[in-house]
Parts: sequence; structure tokens; C-alpha cells
Amino acid sequence: MRLLTLLRRRLGWKLFLAHLVIVLIGVTVLATTAEYHAPSALAKHIAQMRAILGDDPALVADLHDNFLAAVHEVLLFAAGAAIVAAVIVSTFTARRIVAPVRAMMEASQRIAAGDYRERVRVTSEDELGTLAQAFNRMAETLERTEQRRLELIGNVAHELRTPLSSIKSIMEGLIDGVLPPEPATFLDVQREVARLQRLVQDLEELSRAEAGQIALHRQYVSLADLIRSAAARLEPQFEDKSVNLHLVLPEDLPKVWVDPSRVTQVLLNLMGNALQYTSPGGTVWVRARVQEDEAVVEVQDTGIGISPEHLPHIFERFYRVDKSRSRAGGGSGIGLTIAKHLVKAHDGRIWAESLGPGQGSTFTFTIPLSSSSNPA
Ligand SMILES: Nc1ncnc2c1ncn2[C@@H]1O[C@H](COP(=O)(O)OP(=O)(O)O)[C@@H](O)[C@H]1O
Ligand SMILES: [Mg+2]
Repeated sequence: MRLLTLLRRRLGWKLFLAHLVIVLIGVTVLATTAEYHAPSALAKHIAQMRAILGDDPALVADLHDNFLAAVHEVLLFAAGAAIVAAVIVSTFTARRIVAPVRAMMEASQRIAAGDYRERVRVTSEDELGTLAQAFNRMAETLERTEQRRLELIGNVAHELRTPLSSIKSIMEGLIDGVLPPEPATFLDVQREVARLQRLVQDLEELSRAEAGQIALHRQYVSLADLIRSAAARLEPQFEDKSVNLHLVLPEDLPKVWVDPSRVTQVLLNLMGNALQYTSPGGTVWVRARVQEDEAVVEVQDTGIGISPEHLPHIFERFYRVDKSRSRAGGGSGIGLTIAKHLVKAHDGRIWAESLGPGQGSTFTFTIPLSSSSNPA
């Protein structure tokens, strides 16, 4: 019973048994063949030796028996030696195979227990080595995911703290009578609440986007129309801030196979940023064109620009070049992250360019025209 359990549970024992079975089969085949052939081979040799031995039947029979006994003895000895050799070799190879598997097993248990830095040593180039590499890659991804999760919690807590403490201090002022209960005070509270609401909305959107759960309701729509209506929605804000908005849309801009509300969201995001980070008197251009098999949309501004060290990070969630400036505009640093996910969901690309601070920025995204799902 115990042996059976051991065999079922231990790879090393299984390998050992497999080796043993192979050796036993080999020995059996060898012995059977020898048993079968030995008498006739002996008879043939004895017949050839008859000239020397003479014709004594007792001597021939004796010789025959002794030879056979010798063959048996040799076979028995050889079988024993073969089994001993098999045991030694199998112990060695089983250990070589089992050791890395066991190392991976132990590492996976430590990872499951929360130690994400755990890695295994890659000792070979065979399938086990490949498995170890795949294991390490998985562990790395888990570690990164865990890091991002912790970061996210920290960021969200941080974002919640500012509006909440403003509301708290306003309320305390009201209770203590330091602040007058007048519309301006209430508007301050309302502004902070609106900021919290926007943050929660953005977070919801972000979590859906990062889980890859953005449902696209694609339609065949005019890209120029999408841009024009997004511009119309932001027109009042551009006028308020005295920033010029120019659309450069060629006549022959094709229709695209997209989710109109999602593309509009990307446009509003980029144009909203352009407006937010451009001083009064500045200009924002929105250009669209077809390049190879993509529609390319460009939002260029004459705003504050982005220095090269920040450029690679601005699509990361919660990343803001100037936190106070962004927050004053109601930004939480999630807008571009969501835009990136939305563009990716459409199989497009999005990137930013800027010559540096004060030189303006250009945000560009593409939508494939020859997408497999495009009916045109
Ligand atoms: N048009 C732009 N000009 C300069 N900086 C920009 C522009 N758009 C985005 N950024 C920078 O990228 C950061 C991330 O943008 P975004 O994700 O929209 O967050 P935010 O909520 O701060 O606007 C911003 O905080 C800002 O520093
Ligand atoms: Mg923004």
C-alpha cells in the first residue's frame, strides 16, 4: 500500500520504476533468447568437436549439461549486474530530472504565499529549462502586477485625500463660524465633490479598460464628423480661455469602422488636455489625414510642452508632469491612460511628441482602415 502511494506521488520513484521495467524486459528477452538458442548452438559445436572427443555419449551429455549450467550462471550474474547498473543510473538521472521540478514546485508555493521575488535557476536547455524560463517570466509578471496593484491603491488614496481634506476643512470652518455660510463657500464644497465624482468615474473607466472589458459598439462613421462634433462640444471652453481651435480636415477623409463614442472620448481627452495646457492666446490644431492604411489624427498645441524625461511616462496612470497645475484643471492623470486603452481597443496607436517645455506638444493617434472587421 505504502509503496503504491509512494509510486503514485513521487516522480523520482516513477522514473526509477520505468527504468527498472525496461531493464527487466531487456534481461528477460536476453535470457529467453539465450535459453532458446544455447542448446542447439551447443549441439552444433559438440558435433564439430566429435573428432577430438570421440564417440562417448556420456561425455557428450556431461559436456552439454555443464556448458548449459555455465551459460545459466553467466546469465544470472549478468542480469544482476544489469539491474544494479540500472538502479545506479536511474537514481542519478531521476535526481537530475526531479530536482528542477521540485525546485519549481517549492518556488510556486512561496509565490502563492506572497513572495513574488521568487525565481528558479535555469540549469538546462531542454524542456525543463524552457519550463523554468517560462516559470520565471510568469513570476516576473506576477511581481509587476502586484507592484502596480500596490501603486494603484497608494495613488487612489492620495487622489482622494486632497478633495476630502478640503471638504473637511471647509465644513470645520462653517461649524466653527470662521467661514460664512454663503454661496461661495458651498460652491467650493461642490467643486471638490465634483472632482471626487470625476475621479471615481475615471477610475471605473480605467479599471474596465485595464481589464480589457471595453465593449466596442462599432459603426461605420465619418471621422471628420466625429472631430467636428467633439470640437463643437469644447468650443465654449476654448472661447472662455481665448484659445484658438483650428480643424484641418481634408474633403476626402474616409469613413472608419469604430465605436463613435469611444473615439469621441479620445478626441475630447486630447483636445481637453491641449486646452488645459495652453495659455490664453495660444492655438490648438486638430488635423486628420490618411497615411498608408491608417487614419491619422493629430492634436497639436502651442502650450507648455513636455520635457523629454517626462514624455515616455505621460500615458502611465496617475502620471502628471506638474501635479498642482493638473489638479487645478481637475486632472487626475488618468485621461491619457484611458485614451491609450481606447485607441488600442481599436487596434490603433497613440503617442506624444514635444520639442520641450514652452514648445507645444503634438498628440497623435491612428485608426487602421483595413481592419479585418472593417466591412468596407
Ligand atoms: N497637451 C499637453 N501639453 C502638455 N502636457 C500635457 C498635455 N497633455 C498631457 N500632458 C501631460 O500629461 C499628463 C497626463 O495627462 P492626463 O492623463 O490627461 O492627466 P491630467 O488629468 O493631468 O490631464 C498631464 O498631467 C500633463 O502633465
Ligand atoms: Mg487630462
